[in-house]
Amino acid sequence: MSKSAELARLIRSRAGEAPVTLGLILGSGLGHLAGAVDGAAIPYGDLPGFPHAGVSGHNPNLVVGELNGVRVAVFGGRAHYYEKGDPAVMRLPLEVLKELGAGLVIATNAAGSLDLRMPTGSIMCLSDHINFSGLNPLIGEPTDARFVPMKDAYDPALRARLRQAAATEEVEMAEGVYAWYSGPSFETPAEIRAIRMLGADAVGMSTVPEVILARFLGLKAAAISTITNMAAGLSDEAISHEHTKAMAPIGAVKLETVLRRFLRDL
Ligand code: HPA
Repeated sequence: MSKSAELARLIRSRAGEAPVTLGLILGSGLGHLAGAVDGAAIPYGDLPGFPHAGVSGHNPNLVVGELNGVRVAVFGGRAHYYEKGDPAVMRLPLEVLKELGAGLVIATNAAGSLDLRMPTGSIMCLSDHINFSGLNPLIGEPTDARFVPMKDAYDPALRARLRQAAATEEVEMAEGVYAWYSGPSFETPAEIRAIRMLGADAVGMSTVPEVILARFLGLKAAAISTITNMAAGLSDEAISHEHTKAMAPIGAVKLETVLRRFLRDL
């Protein structure tokens, strides 16, 4: 039995047999939504091979249960490339999600804004991404499945549903292009000017490898950023992980409202 099938069996033994519809990956400062799920919280430490999510502001549990009437698997924390240098660090969790029956995954993250009309506290639904890291989680994958098309990687139908949910709840939600920067250092102002010219609207250190992996596995994907700061050089605002964690809850309230409506209407 594959490692992901074994882990899915273990998770089902603790959280129940019903298949999961959707996976939710929670970013920095967004971990509390995991606590809103009516279900079983399984510490990553109980799931052999699961990456240790070692970033403060993350909640390293997989929570499987009901959220607004939908059976979900919520990753309370994610592992990042910059922790160990592995761009495929989220591959096993996503494989397990698929084993649990999910066909959809929504990633959330904290990001810096490159657009002055999208200030701190905004949320942005990703329409596309720029892989500014040059890394790819599928390097080394031996099968032809590695040649994953990335047009419409952020599923247009899911995005339309998220837009509709935001409109119903009267939450302003921008749409834009997210650039993946490896981290863990923040970008320089020159790097921000460069990716702005390339067409990015927001920048962050996650999500892109997960969406590549999700598409590789045949999962439909969507992602939403909470803007925790203006990117380097665009304002006098401090840029730090402390600031990210302090500002994430502003956008997180909006994000949670949109996600809960999205789930209710699914
Ligand atoms: N850059 C990269 N990652 C981030 C930022 C940023 O400005 N803010 C929150 N995560």
